[in-house]
This record gives sequence, structure tokens and C-alpha cells, in this order.
Amino acid sequence: MSLALDERQRAMLAEMGIKLWAPIAPRVAEVAPEKVAARAGETSAGAEFDSKPTPTASLQTPAEAPIVRPPVRAIAAPLPTAPAAPVPTALGPRPEGVADMDWPQLEATVAACRACGLCAGRTQTVFGVGSRTADWMVIGEAPGENEDCQGQPFVGQAGKLLDNMLAAIGLSRQVGDTMNSVASGGDSVRADGPKDSKQGVYIANVLKCRPPGNRNPQPDEIAQCEPYLRRQVALVQPKIILAMGRFAVQSLLQTTEPIGKLRGRVHHYEGVPVIVTYHPAYLLPALPEKAKAWQDLCLAMATVRGG
Ligand code: URA
Repeated sequence: MSLALDERQRAMLAEMGIKLWAPIAPRVAEVAPEKVAARAGETSAGAEFDSKPTPTASLQTPAEAPIVRPPVRAIAAPLPTAPAAPVPTALGPRPEGVADMDWPQLEATVAACRACGLCAGRTQTVFGVGSRTADWMVIGEAPGENEDCQGQPFVGQAGKLLDNMLAAIGLSRQVGDTMNSVASGGDSVRADGPKDSKQGVYIANVLKCRPPGNRNPQPDEIAQCEPYLRRQVALVQPKIILAMGRFAVQSLLQTTEPIGKLRGRVHHYEGVPVIVTYHPAYLLPALPEKAKAWQDLCLAMATVRGG
């Protein structure tokens, strides 16, 4: 029996939660074959060593893992497809006055930002976390699925590794952590912060909104978002910035050089020393590189102590 329902009737049924059986084209997987291969960790030989690897996506987006389903037999006519939400492609106005904002103004401005198309797909903006008077600042790339849901940077598997790396040098994203920090040499209190924030760390990303499907940030998105990160750095006044991953490194240092060529020396952003290191998502499966990341942390500690 075939149901001859018009579009309005179908919409009403859908509204009531009544599903119609519909023919669905046979699918092997919900995602393109090249994505499946990449998520399985199959990178091409000689693939960029220091770019944020696609396996990150699988770590951040378990819900997006390929689903293999058998073909479904057609019983009724196809369901009408809902019109896709419009995705703004034109850039909105670049936020003004950011350079003079205090924390509450900056946070509110970021939360309301519509300066690029990423605002259409976000659940929420991901501003930053940790001590706002920290000596150490970690800068990553962009929120992934977990971060977009929870509103905090680095909360997935890569975030756990980051927390472990930071803990190894006596730092914690928890404001008020009173560990005697190796990273700050266990030394004195900063004039502008409470004692227990001294061992904190402030963590932020280059982008405050999640790129769809964890794709790479686009240059125009980075440019629109840049004033926010610049202001965060100015407000935190860290003694050291740890730039993690290619996008963070290249956008802070305005270079196209790969991480491998930039590691091992001190760079500067707005007068603050910057240490370049690998993205924790890259380090997750890359055991030999963890040793290099440790070297980078040691260089950062030495820079803080010496500076
Ligand atoms: N990767 C990043 O660079 N930042 C996050 O917040 C999460 C994953």
C-alpha cells in the first residue's frame, strides 16, 4: 500500500514523532571513504608530521565514526528533506574595541560573535579556561566536538594528555591549584594575582568556535578571531606561551614554517616568549614525539626561569 501524503501531512506526522518508512539508498558508510581511511589512521606516506592529524577527529567525534548499515527496503515514498539551515558565508563585521576590553566585556563579545560563518554551526563559543593571572598560557587550534558541547578547551583525549603534560611540570588548569610549581621554579607570587593562581595555566584556542567536522581553520576565520586571542594574551600577561600544533604556531608567529623547523628556540608574540610544540592530539599515538614534546616543555621551563 502506498501512502499518498502531501508535504503538510508529512510535516505534521514528523512533528508528532511518527516516522514513515522510506527507501534509503544503500550505504556502505556514513562518511566519505577517504575520511574513513583517515580516521582509521591511514595517513599517506610522508604526510605532514606536525599538522593536526585527522585521527583527532575520531577522538573528538566518536559519534561521527562510520556506521555500516544494510540497505533498507523501500516501503513508502521518500520523506521530504528539511531545508538546510542557512550557513552564512560572508564575514560579519570584525569586532571593534577588543583591544581595550576587560575580561567580562571580552567574554561577552566572544559569546555573541558573528564575525565568521562558524557561528552558524557552534553549540557555544569556547572562550578559555584556567587562571587569568597565570605565568603559563597554552594556545591550541580550535574547539572540537567535545569542547563545543562543554564550552571548555581541550576536554577530549587530547585534553587529557595535555593535562598530564602540564601536571608533569606542576601546572594545572584548575584555578586555585596550590601545587608547588616546578614550572615557575616554586618561586614568589605575582603582584597581580593570588598566591594559588601562580601555578595555574590559562588555556585558549586560536578559534573560539568549532569548525564543522573538525576541518582545518580557514585563514579568514583565523583573521576574524585573532583580536580575541591577542586581547586574552594582553590580559593574562603570561611569562611564556606554549603554542601547540601547526595552526596555533603559524598564526601566532605569522609563518608557514613547519613545527619541526621552529622547535627548539624561543620565539615571541606581543613581547611574550613562545615555545613551539606538537599538538597533543598528534602526540597521542606518536610515542617518539612525546620525548620531543618533553624537550619543548623543558625549554619553556628554562625560559620562564631565565626570563
Ligand atoms: N584541539 C585544540 O586545539 N583545542 C581544543 O580545544 C581541543 C582540541
